[in-house]
Amino acid sequence: MFVTADPTTSEQDFKASLGIPQDLFAAIEILKKDLNAIVLAHYYQEADIQDVADYIGDSLGLSQKAAETEAEVIVFAGVHFMAETAKILNPDKLVLLPDLDAGCSLADSCPPDQFAAFKAKHPDHIVVSYINCTAEIKAMSDIICTSSNAVKLINQIPEDQPIIFAPDRNLGRYVMQQTGREMVLWDGSCIVHETFSERKLVELKVANPKAEIIAHPECEPQVLSHADFIGSTTALLNYSQQSPSEAFIVVTEAGIIHQMEKDVPGKQFIPAPPENQCACNECPHMRLNTLEKLYLAMKNQSPEITMAEDIQKAALKPIQRMLEMS
Ligand code: 13P
Ligand code: SF4
Repeated sequence: MFVTADPTTSEQDFKASLGIPQDLFAAIEILKKDLNAIVLAHYYQEADIQDVADYIGDSLGLSQKAAETEAEVIVFAGVHFMAETAKILNPDKLVLLPDLDAGCSLADSCPPDQFAAFKAKHPDHIVVSYINCTAEIKAMSDIICTSSNAVKLINQIPEDQPIIFAPDRNLGRYVMQQTGREMVLWDGSCIVHETFSERKLVELKVANPKAEIIAHPECEPQVLSHADFIGSTTALLNYSQQSPSEAFIVVTEAGIIHQMEKDVPGKQFIPAPPENQCACNECPHMRLNTLEKLYLAMKNQSPEITMAEDIQKAALKPIQRMLEMS
């Protein structure tokens, strides 16, 4: 949505003045061919972006797609750490992020200097980091995981090997519960997933007794304790397709509901309520990307993801390890 400084200028004229065509969908398709580009989008992106994407997925699916693509240009409709992962896997390709400010509160909750000091206090531990972290943290890690493979990966680590898990304490706690492994947790969290109100969730369930509660493991334990199913965004989507239930209370970023409604029309998807009267169940970082910015990024071949070569090389190893172990 554009806000024009001059109220007499129509949105159409304003867009034209920025060189944005009326039919953005068609213009993006032309640019995809011209640039030999692929558009990868996370489920938390706005509906229009999901509809223009060549592939929509969770963090694991997106990194697998980025690792195998033959396209010359990767347009990453997601947040910075995701586009950074695509760049680490494709150092010679152009990786574009529609808005470079699309960060992540969880990644920000783990500053590299503080994490280096934390790691130094546990020299015999290996570091398993959730993909929602910066390239610097990845470079200090032994294995990267996502919400869809964390349990599987931790189960492959010898039982006598102590583990640091960073940066999400909620995912870490959930993995400890599922695997029975003790881990040293970094105290980070996601602003979106910690926003859900347990009290309002229970009220919603009472009002919709037949609806199943499906939740992302980044949510807090008291919220997860009410869930009928816990999983990554792709796992939640698959579950909602396969379950015989007709209604679901969805406890994750609300953007995923677009795909759920498309995949299983007729079923009811109710977004779980945040604590306050806000749109806090929409990730403010993810929502910085818009279809207009995506088009402009392709047209200008900018903003581009870049990083120091030593970090890029060091961060590649734990990502490759994840892809091998998944
Ligand atoms: P997944 O993509 O692994 O479901 O994680 C959700 C998320 O918070 C991405 O930022
Ligand atoms: Fe980061 Fe949370 Fe937004 Fe995902 S939803 S990008 S973890 S702030």
